[in-house]
Amino acid sequence: MTATRGLEGVVASETSISSIIDDTLTYVGYNIDDLADHASFEEVIYLLWHLKLPNQQELDELKQQLIENMELPQGVIDAFKLYSLQNVHPMAALRTAVSQLGLYDDEADIMEKEANYRKAIRLQAKIPTIVAAFARIRKGLDPVSPRKDLGLAANFLYMLKGKEPDDIEVEAFNKALVLHADHELNASTFTARVCVATLSDIYSGITAAIGALKGPLHGGANEQVMKMLTEIGSADRIEDYLHEKFRNKEKIMGFGHRVYRKGDPRAKHLKKMSEKLTKLTGQPYYYDMSVKIEQIVTSEKGIPANVDFYSASVYHSLGIDHDLFTPIFAVSRVSGWLAHILEQYSNNRIIRPRAEYVGPGMQTYVKIEDR
Ligand code: SDX
Repeated sequence: MTATRGLEGVVASETSISSIIDDTLTYVGYNIDDLADHASFEEVIYLLWHLKLPNQQELDELKQQLIENMELPQGVIDAFKLYSLQNVHPMAALRTAVSQLGLYDDEADIMEKEANYRKAIRLQAKIPTIVAAFARIRKGLDPVSPRKDLGLAANFLYMLKGKEPDDIEVEAFNKALVLHADHELNASTFTARVCVATLSDIYSGITAAIGALKGPLHGGANEQVMKMLTEIGSADRIEDYLHEKFRNKEKIMGFGHRVYRKGDPRAKHLKKMSEKLTKLTGQPYYYDMSVKIEQIVTSEKGIPANVDFYSASVYHSLGIDHDLFTPIFAVSRVSGWLAHILEQYSNNRIIRPRAEYVGPGMQTYVKIEDR
């Protein structure tokens, strides 16, 4: 038995939810380019969970179910007020709040299909509210309740800022949510599947996935990209900055991918959004700097930008705190995690790979007084 580092190239599961073939991403066979240009995030949630696009009645019903479930138990709000939130990373707060949600859910350990679907609705609906509430409470602001007349994208921005977003902001954020919704067997989705394959509950699966997404090699990269743009500060410092990183063999956040070779199809949509939004907010240099960084990294290292690279300047232009970028990734990706969890439950076998043992050979036990 020989271990494959990072399971590279290992096919660990079947799925009908999303595919990445020859650098083309599809959700249930629908090309991500079409979905990004035409679908609402709610349509994509329905598609991922039911493996078909909804008709109007099905979409309205899903929207209604989500809006009815966006409010949080008071205990989650109180807990946020308890912590000294200044030093709590929003992904740690999200992970804790999702675990707490499970305590309030009397169906948490009921494994019937209908109960799991109801829990999926509750988690999809409440996670945006958790992120927005945390962001406000840590600044001493009251959380803002969701509005019944807004969709998920608009409601998140409304709950975060306390004012209704404009159409351009809603369109951009909706597109970002569509682009981040699912991605085959990425690390956090695989984590969720491994967890629930033991027949553990959905809250445990989502909490585990949040933990995996938090890492800077995965969902945490978007926040690190913004940190890089801020550290570099101006276009004239880009070359020296990057060449220093190259010399130190440091990873450039927002670049590279385990699966994509020619490029991440999602990046072009976020690049276009970044150009538009940074211009509108009077900060075109974030886009210009990003383009120059991309040009140098791809030409000198042959490593393409991934989904996280341009999402940083998009979220910054939407006025979102930089440490909320990864929780926003979770607001979208929870739809994919839930789809994979429901799929895992529907045709389950515990996930238990082998390890190649490279430790010492057989040894004889020696009493402690003789060691
Ligand atoms: C996401 O899996 C998914 O689908 C994830 C995701 C999703 O939607 O769920 O797409 C979201 O997580 C995107 C990736 C976000 N992470 C980053 O942007 C962090 C920076 N990227 C790298 O850490 C890396 O590219 C990974 C983690 C994305 C992929 O890691 P791999 O496949 O293990 O690649 P590797 O680290 O083995 O690198 C292979 C070579 C190495 O060179 P050598 O040592 O062989 O000479 O490419 C180099 C690496 O040094 N390399 C990079 C680089 N990425 C790879 N060099 C500089 N900067 C980089 N970003």
